[in-house]
Amino acid sequence: MTVKRMTCLSFVPCCIKIESSTAKPRKVVAKQTSFARLSVSDLSSSTLSEDLSISLAGSNLHVFTFGELRVITQNFASSNILGEGGFGPVHKGFIDDKLRPGLKAQPVAVKLLDLDGLQGHREWLTEVIFLGQLRHPHLVKLIGYCCEDEHRLLVYEYMPRGSLENQLFRRYSVSLPWSTRMKIALGAAKGLAFLHEAEKPVIYRDFKTSNILLDSDYTAKLSDFGLAKDGPEGDDTHVSTRVLGTQGYAAPEYIMTGHLTAASDVYSFGVVLLELLTGRKSVDKTRPHREQNLAEWARPLLKDPRKLSRIMDPRLEGQYSELGAQKAAALAYQCLRSRPKFRPTVSTVVRTLEPLKDYNDDSVGSFVYIVPNQSVLHKEHHKEGDAQEGLKKEKSHYHKHHQLHHAHRHMNKSPKSRTIYSETALHQNIRTGLSSPIHHGLKRA
Ligand SMILES: Nc1ncnc2c1ncn2[C@@H]1O[C@H](COP(=O)(O)OP(=O)(O)O)[C@@H](O)[C@H]1O
Ligand SMILES: [Mg+2]
Repeated sequence: MTVKRMTCLSFVPCCIKIESSTAKPRKVVAKQTSFARLSVSDLSSSTLSEDLSISLAGSNLHVFTFGELRVITQNFASSNILGEGGFGPVHKGFIDDKLRPGLKAQPVAVKLLDLDGLQGHREWLTEVIFLGQLRHPHLVKLIGYCCEDEHRLLVYEYMPRGSLENQLFRRYSVSLPWSTRMKIALGAAKGLAFLHEAEKPVIYRDFKTSNILLDSDYTAKLSDFGLAKDGPEGDDTHVSTRVLGTQGYAAPEYIMTGHLTAASDVYSFGVVLLELLTGRKSVDKTRPHREQNLAEWARPLLKDPRKLSRIMDPRLEGQYSELGAQKAAALAYQCLRSRPKFRPTVSTVVRTLEPLKDYNDDSVGSFVYIVPNQSVLHKEHHKEGDAQEGLKKEKSHYHKHHQLHHAHRHMNKSPKSRTIYSETALHQNIRTGLSSPIHHGLKRA
């Protein structure tokens, strides 16, 4: 029998196989218990190459061979690609109940990491370690992994509605209703709260719409833990790191100083909440210059209800609770405060959002501009009640017109660029006033 022995633990990007007889682990330094979560640093500090599957025993992760994953994904058919992030494609696959005892037949998502340099391997390992140990209804479930030769793969539960990014920004589809948006915001906040409030807190560091996945009933689950980081310990107020994350979502103080705190995640949450309110992307280069960075553009407009109505997503067609929108906007404003200490904790965010999902979708937004036509004017002349009916009709006419206009505008957009780590992001940010001398590891949104 062979066992996979991993130099992964010291971040060397290959997995070597050696015979079990010669590979008895001298000491399992970091076997997971229910009390102490294993962290990436526990492993990287070990000079001995420990077997990851031994270290993560108890987490019920399955170790797959590359050949098995090839079968599961029909040879990584391009027709089965679910999405693509910074490190390679994610394929849909199907596991049958004969593959492993105890593993039920189910659809899965298989992420194939493109190991171009050390960063890909590091992210793979980080994700295995965090997601392998953290279990929560608002975190995507990691089923297993593959580390064979140069191959690094992750196998997750399949999320039928894909990412929030796809649902929110997909062209020519029915837009997400207001209450669904609030349900998603709440679910994602609960996932974040679980991380921040864990016995050994975790900073997620890459909170964004493409990393929030949706179940069939729109339950939100956080995925993609490649950039996650253990929170500060003891008296430390922050973790100092290289600046990694995504342009448009990363908190300004983190970009400037490299100081990472839970409040950095709260800032990114604020950006996602803004995306849910406005239907706009965190960075959109197709818009006029001053509107390209969503947080910068929208923040001053969040506190005044009259101005708020101007930035609400036109695809909502006015079908949202005004009060709910005001409360969500006020929350986004607080999350986006430039001084991290003034931002709410994520548990406050959860408490604030909790009631908002129950606010009615169908309040008529006061911003809806209604073009009076003859029939309405005629009815108004006769009966006030009838005029209300006419107004409703006009409202839907306006919305239809507006939606078409909106769809047309989207048709002209350039295709979604692949999210990548990019040195050029630094220069782009300098131009958009978002940069700092150490802003070198941000992904393009
Ligand atoms: N479990 C899943 N179920 C369905 N789609 C998924 C799943 N995991 C990822 N995807 C799709 O693949 C995209 C990229 O996945 P992600 O894990 O964020 O990769 P990366 O680390 O490269 O950013 C997601 O935005 C989503 O569209
Ligand atoms: Mg991602």
